[in-house]
Order: sequence, then C-alpha cells, then structure tokens
Amino acid sequence: QAFFKTIQNSDPHSITKRHTKISVIGVGNVGMAIAQTIISQDLADELSLVDAKADKLRGEMLDLQHAAAFLPRTKINASVDYSVTAGSDLCIVTAGARQNPGESRLNLLQRNVALFASIIPPLAKYSPDSILLIVSNPVDVLTFVSWKLSGFPSNRVIGSGTNLDSSRFRFLIADHLDVNAQDVQAFIVGEHGDSSVALWSSISIGGVPVLSFLQNQQIAYEKQTLENIHKAVVDSAYEVISLKGYTSWAIGYSVANLARSLLRDQRKIHPVSVLAKGFYGIDGGDVFLSLPAQLGRGGVLGVTNIHLTDEEMQRLRKSAETILEVQSQLGL
Ligand code: NAD
Ligand code: LAC
Repeated sequence: QAFFKTIQNSDPHSITKRHTKISVIGVGNVGMAIAQTIISQDLADELSLVDAKADKLRGEMLDLQHAAAFLPRTKINASVDYSVTAGSDLCIVTAGARQNPGESRLNLLQRNVALFASIIPPLAKYSPDSILLIVSNPVDVLTFVSWKLSGFPSNRVIGSGTNLDSSRFRFLIADHLDVNAQDVQAFIVGEHGDSSVALWSSISIGGVPVLSFLQNQQIAYEKQTLENIHKAVVDSAYEVISLKGYTSWAIGYSVANLARSLLRDQRKIHPVSVLAKGFYGIDGGDVFLSLPAQLGRGGVLGVTNIHLTDEEMQRLRKSAETILEVQSQLGL
C-alpha cells in the first residue's frame, strides 16, 4: 500500500523539472561553507560530497541531512568514490592544503597540484559536460592545471578568483562611506592573492563614478588612502587566518553566488579566474586570472571591456607575469 494514492493516468516518476546536480570536492571549512550555502539557497536538487577522509565525509553528510526539516529539499549523498559525482552540472573543488598563518597562497602550489592529478581526471570522466569551479589555492594556477587535466574547453573551467576579494573591497568602501555594499560597483582583478589589482578608475556607487565625481567637485583625496584600502583587501585573508585559522563564510557565499549565476543562467558579471590570454593586452602565455566575466549556463560567456588606466593595465600585466612565473615551474 503506497503512502500516497497515485492520481489516475499519471506517472509518479516522470520528471517535470530539470534535475540540477552540484558536487563539492573537499569537505573542510570551505567545502562545507559552500555546501550549506548552496542548500540553504535552494540551488541544487542533488548535492554530492567527496573527500579523502571517509569518516569526516560521512559525518558531514549526516549532519547536513539532519537539517532536512528546515531546508529546501535536496538529495545529499557522499562517497570517497568519484562515481557519486556522475552527471554533475557543476563540480566545485575545495580539496587540499590551506595556508598556515603568514604563509602565501602561492606556497601551497606543489602540495595541491599533486592532489589535483587524482581529483580532476575522475571528475571530468564522470561529468564530461559539467562546469569546473576551482576554489583551492593558489586558485589561478590550479584553474590552469584543471583546464589542462580535464581537457574541457576554457569556458567551462573557472576559478573563484577575485570574486571574494571584490566583495571585501566593496565592503571596505561601503563601510568607509556608510552605504550598502551591493550599491558599490567595484572590481579587484588579476591574481587572487598578493599581486591583485584594484580598478579604482571604474568604481561607481549607485551609478555615480566615484573618482571623476571627486575630481569634478574638486574634492581632494589622497592616493595613499586608496592604496591603504587595497592593502586592507590583500591583508584580509592573512588577518582572518591569523585570528581563526582559516577563512570560510565569505568564500561560501561568494561561491554560492557564482553557482547561482552559472546554473540559473543569470548572465551576471563577476570577477573570476578565466583564461586571460588575448584580453587586456595579456599575451605572455596561457594564464588564468580574474577579469570581469559574464557567467551563465554555458560557463564563461564573455569578458567585459572595462576602461583601465595605464597604471591599472601595467599592474594587471605584472600580476599575469607573477602567475606565469609560478606556473612555469610546473612543466605542464
Ligand atoms: P581544510 O583543511 O579544512 O579542508 C581541506 C579538505 O580537503 C579536507 O577535508 C581534506 O580531507 C580534503 N582533501 C585533501 N586531499 C584530498 C584529496 N586528494 N581528495 C579529496 N579530498 C581531499 O581546508 P579549507 O580551509 O577548507 O581550505 C581548502 C582550500 O580552499 C585551501 O587550498 C584554501 O587555501 C582554499 N581557499 C580558497 C579560497 C578562495 O578564495 N579561492 C578561500 C578560502 C580557502
Ligand atoms: C581567502 C583565501 C585564503 O580567504 O584565499 O582569500
């Protein structure tokens, strides 16, 4: 006797809505912050978790499942075996080593590249049509590595990049001027890390271009004030890591925001790590770094052409060189 009586002439198993599946690899601080934000924002019908530590993985899966009565319905499963990810629309990779206090992201490279050789090929095998979204650090170089290892077209390999740095930037500007961060349009581009570039010349608040407004009104501002805000962005992660050991909540929201734009075809513009060769005069080699990119169901739909000052352009190219230099050690 079925619990529900079937409506005559209906097939209860027919699927009327497209099934959306997201996989998260690595269930540490970052993976779980992303997973819980995705579930609470109802972004997936199915969420699959993978980690190398079987007990931790099962514990995290059960803990999330036990919140079912308070959350949108999502089928949650987990396994150390990548077959659990089969048919994913989006695979988010957060597995790997994280920084110790004071350590740079680039210092994680050798440890995390080795892991990616065992993570990316099975993901690509089980979900050949998926979008790969890389979060592990150093995110720009690991996005390049994932592009190489997956064989996917570059529009389907994205790094979370400076989407997070730009949110920190918008928060600091909003805090400084006592406005809503969502009204602040401002981009950090380049490396997600120490060589990132603040695009001051294009910042606007509620449609008002900030620097030209100050200049037109003959309001003086110190270049050092701007440099200090950018420095605070660069120092943000170091500060949080020295205080609590890791960063998690902001990256959780940042990545869920990217997942929404991708899977719901929002066509929003995000600063994320994309194959940058050919854009903004970057031509030194295949390098992934953050540029303002339009995201939709097909992945990266395009890169916007923001006007950069000569200094911003120069800093962006320098950031590309920094990443390429590190990348050249890989021999890929
Ligand atoms: P964590 O130590 O809490 O979690 C890492 C997880 O990866 C662990 O659960 C571990 O078991 C798992 N893991 C290790 N090797 C694995 C493998 N081969 N296969 C599957 N799982 C494996 O670390 P965290 O704080 O969650 O940080 C994870 C990564 O995210 C780090 O590289 C960190 O630097 C990065 N991060 C990036 C951003 C960003 O903006 N891009 C922000 C925060 C953190
Ligand atoms: C961040 C990590 C550590 O929070 O990359 O910026």
